[in-house]
Formats: sequence, structure tokens, C-alpha cells
Amino acid sequence: MIFSKRATAALALCSVLLVSNSPLGRALSTKSQNQSQNQIQTHGSGVDRRTAIQRAGIAAAGLGTVTGGGLFLPNASPAVATAAEPAASIHPVATLADGCRFPLASFGLQIYDDSTAYKLTLTALECGYRNFFASVLAGNQKGFARAIKDSNVPREDLYICGSVVSNRVSGFENARQATTKGWKRNMEAFGVGGIDYLDQIMLDYPGPDCESIQGQWTAFEEMHAQKLTRSISVSNFSARQLDCVLEKARVKPVVNQLPYSVAYHPGDAVADNASRGILVQAWAPLGGSLGGRFDKNVKKACGKIGKKYDKSFAQVALRWIVQSGGSFTTQSKNKDHFSEDLNIFDFELTEEEMKTLNSLA
Ligand SMILES: NC(=O)c1ccc[n+]([C@@H]2O[C@H](COP(=O)([O-])OP(=O)(O)OC[C@H]3O[C@@H](n4cnc5c(N)ncnc54)[C@H](OP(=O)(O)O)[C@@H]3O)[C@@H](O)[C@H]2O)c1
Repeated sequence: MIFSKRATAALALCSVLLVSNSPLGRALSTKSQNQSQNQIQTHGSGVDRRTAIQRAGIAAAGLGTVTGGGLFLPNASPAVATAAEPAASIHPVATLADGCRFPLASFGLQIYDDSTAYKLTLTALECGYRNFFASVLAGNQKGFARAIKDSNVPREDLYICGSVVSNRVSGFENARQATTKGWKRNMEAFGVGGIDYLDQIMLDYPGPDCESIQGQWTAFEEMHAQKLTRSISVSNFSARQLDCVLEKARVKPVVNQLPYSVAYHPGDAVADNASRGILVQAWAPLGGSLGGRFDKNVKKACGKIGKKYDKSFAQVALRWIVQSGGSFTTQSKNKDHFSEDLNIFDFELTEEEMKTLNSLA
């Protein structure tokens, strides 16, 4: 299994750090706290930011695994499934069709500059996020990568997904070259923060025809063969475009990032993708990039259901995605919202409530 040496070593280190009353754990914690005081500014009530980030990881570890309709097909071969995987103990995760484990909640940074991305990534880590979508379109991968480096969170505790936009050229070879250039650019940008492999990389949009799509995909398979990414994925792909990939694929896509929310879910995207071994990751899960936020009827309906569980409209909307069999990537500039958006794994919507929410689109 690729990465297993590196992952095993770091996971072992991580467990030592988490077992804070072991002598080595104490020594390492003290050392890392001293280091962090030099690196990252003190953050509230005498707790430095790095400690807060570690504590958030520990707190999130108590969340366990999602049950009740939220989880995705575990198609993994036993050999792959038992290998060390990133973030497995930190978040509710889905097991992707390639055996890799994927935290259901992701934070994605859209159209921020590097310094804002730096700040918000640290806040997201502090709130407990471990899955990050660092899109090339946002132009902030370097800021993100620097924050990851300065946080000192073990790489293997994180799930990092990049993206490539190569849909504006046509023909197999042109698409392959453009995509190769794209993933190399990702690795360069992430390299600024010492990130030397990705957990996933996504084709942000499909090429104009089947041949171009297959060229894009071949470049991703080459990256995968070089062990620079664990999984390869797509975004905004229709069923027909997925079939173009699957027709020739040696390595299959495992995630399709789509606009998907309680207010917008045309067709049966989750089931269509699942039948191809692909998990839907919702973009605009709160309506954000799809023309702003939810309208007031959607908010009101979600909010009404949320009262019973002491949850906000947003938490109900995100929970609906998970219970529908999807995952999501959201974003915020508001720290309370960061925490809210992660805190959706301790309640379960009833069948009746799911039906009501299904009808809002
Ligand atoms: N693949 C693609 O084609 C594509 C296209 C667009 C976006 N994306 C990705 O999708 C991800 C999500 O982007 P999005 O903007 O569409 O996300 P979104 O989560 O639907 O919307 C974000 C908006 O929701 C608000 N929000 C977040 N949490 C909230 C809460 N608990 N309560 C109330 N409001 C809340 C935020 O405002 P506050 O700042 O006030 O919290 C922000 O304005 C990003 O990673 C982006 O890169 C992908």
C-alpha cells in the first residue's frame, strides 16, 4: 500500500501525542507547545493556537462513525482497508470504493487570498476540521499550505484534496498535457507547506467530449501511479461523462463533487453516482456558490425541524446531505459557523423529517 511507512510512523506519533499521560506523550506535548508559542500567536484564555487545534482533533475523535443511512459502500479489498489511513480516528468517515477513508465534512476555501486562506485554515483546524478542499480556482493553495505547515498537525491526520481545471482544451493529448501541467502546479503550490502528496485530486470540470475527458483522466492515473495522490476524483461530471471515464479507467474515480443541497438536488445524483462506486461530495451545501444562501422558506423549514434537536437551519441542511448518502464541503468566515457545520453527527433526522426536507427543492 502506498504511503504505508510514512503513514504508520506518523499515526504512531499521533497516538502517542493523544495519550497525553504517557511519559513520551508528555515530553512531546511540552516540546510542541513550546515550539508553537514561537510559531503561532497565543489564542484566547492562555491556550496557544496549536494546542487548541490538537484539542479540537481529540474532541472530534469522540464523534465516532456515522450510522443510519449516512454511510457509503465499503467496497474495499481487505488488504487495502486494513492499511493505515489518514484521519480515520478523527472524523466520521466514509470508506471510498478504492479503500481510502474520507472524512464526511470538509472545509473548502473559495476565492480568498493567501493570507485569508492562511488565517481561515488555522481557524478550521482549531474547530476540528481535518478534511480540506483546496481548489486551484481559489488561487490560495500556498496560503493554505503554509497554515498546514505552521499548525504542526501531523500530515497523516489530515485529508487534503487539490483540483485541476483543464476543461478548455480538446483532444486526448491536449487534455492529458493540460491536466499534467495542472497537477504539477498543485504539487508546487502545496510544496510550499511541505505537503508532498495529496489524499485526493479532483478534475474540476469535464472536458468538452469523451476523448478529452479520457485524456484528462489518463494524466490523473499517471499522477496516481507516481504515488503523489491516494485517490483521484471528478467534479461536475454527469452520468454520461462518468461513463466516459469508466470506459477506459484503470483507476476509478471515487468522489464526484456536485452542487447538492436540501434546496437543490435534481435527479438522483447520490444513487446514480453510488451505482458507479462514487460518493457525492456536495458543493454549495448551504446554497453559497449557487446564488447566495437558501431562501427564507427553506431556512424556515430546516430551522423548524432543528428546534427539536437544538440545531440551526444550517446543521439540519448539512445533516440531510449526510443522511441522504452524501458528504459535503462548506466554507465560512465565521468561527461559530465553522463549529456548527462540524457539529452535525450527534443527531438523526426521522424518516418523516427527511421526507419533508426532500420536498423543499
Ligand atoms: N467544484 C465546483 O465547481 C465548486 C463550485 C463552487 C464552490 N465549490 C466549493 O464548494 C465549497 C463550498 O462553497 P460554498 O460557498 O458554495 O459553500 P456553502 O457552505 O454552501 O456556503 C457558504 C456560505 O454559507 C454561510 N454559512 C456557512 N456555515 C453557516 C452556518 N452554520 N450558518 C449560517 N450560514 C453559514 C457562509 O457565511 P458565513 O461566512 O457568514 O458563515 C457562506 O456565506 C468550497 O470548498 C468551494 O471551493 C466548488
